[in-house]
Amino acid sequence: MGKRIMPRAALCAAIVAVVPALSACGGVKDPQPDVVAGKQLFVQKCGSCHTLSRAGTKGTTGPDLDQAFQQSIKEGFGTSAVRGVVYKQILYPNRLKNSQGIKMPAKLVSGQNAHDVAAYVASVSSLTGKDSGRLATAVKAAGGGTATEKAGVISIPADPGGQLAFADAKAIGQAGPVTIEMPNKSGTQHDIVIDGLGKGEVVANGTSSFKATLDAGQSYTYYCSVPGHREAGMEGKLTVK
Ligand code: HEC
Repeated sequence: MGKRIMPRAALCAAIVAVVPALSACGGVKDPQPDVVAGKQLFVQKCGSCHTLSRAGTKGTTGPDLDQAFQQSIKEGFGTSAVRGVVYKQILYPNRLKNSQGIKMPAKLVSGQNAHDVAAYVASVSSLTGKDSGRLATAVKAAGGGTATEKAGVISIPADPGGQLAFADAKAIGQAGPVTIEMPNKSGTQHDIVIDGLGKGEVVANGTSSFKATLDAGQSYTYYCSVPGHREAGMEGKLTVK
């Protein structure tokens, strides 16, 4: 995805199409967006497909949203202009498919939520560094937990908040037969795989699981095999006692 240059006329047209009441191309003013809610929704609904540095998302199905507006921002288009473009994209995505034949679903968020997400994306697109203030703690990073084997089952959930991560980046098991499962409530497609041991099915809402036999003293890497997810950090380490 190359950098995109947005001609001012096109940008204005896009914005006016979104907010017909807008008299000139001054930008989107109302309603007041809640960027903290916008960040949370972005991570949940958009981050599995889009990279946005400040949001900590690393999806690769859709364009990188830091790069997408870099050129326009450099050329002085304000965040309100970018906000209008993102808002329009949420409601009316392009009909283009990416190289894997995937299209962006329309209206993943709507109403005030769509304004919140658009405002957040526009305010941080192409920025380096970290979000500060209330934005810094808006989303808890997934992966902090440790899953332990219980009654022959090791349960390692996918992050329910939609991050490309397991809730537990570490797991501890015992030698012998075991069921490895990944409950997934995120709505994003995931599976759980250990090379050489087994592979669960890809599920969006449900549980992916497989049976395996663990060797004493070994450690294994579990990961999600949906394209781009492991690269974004969806993997962990299973240690066998
Ligand atoms: C299932 C994957 C998927 C999800 C989820 C998704 N997108 Fe997209 N997005 C895409 C694809 C593919 C494209 C490129 C085709 C297009 O423009 O519609 C895209 C394009 C975009 C663009 C245009 C970027 C450019 O270069 O002009 C923006 C902005 C955008 N998405 C924002 C969002 C926001 C905000 C959300 C969450 C509400 C979201 N996307 C959710 C896949 C996704």
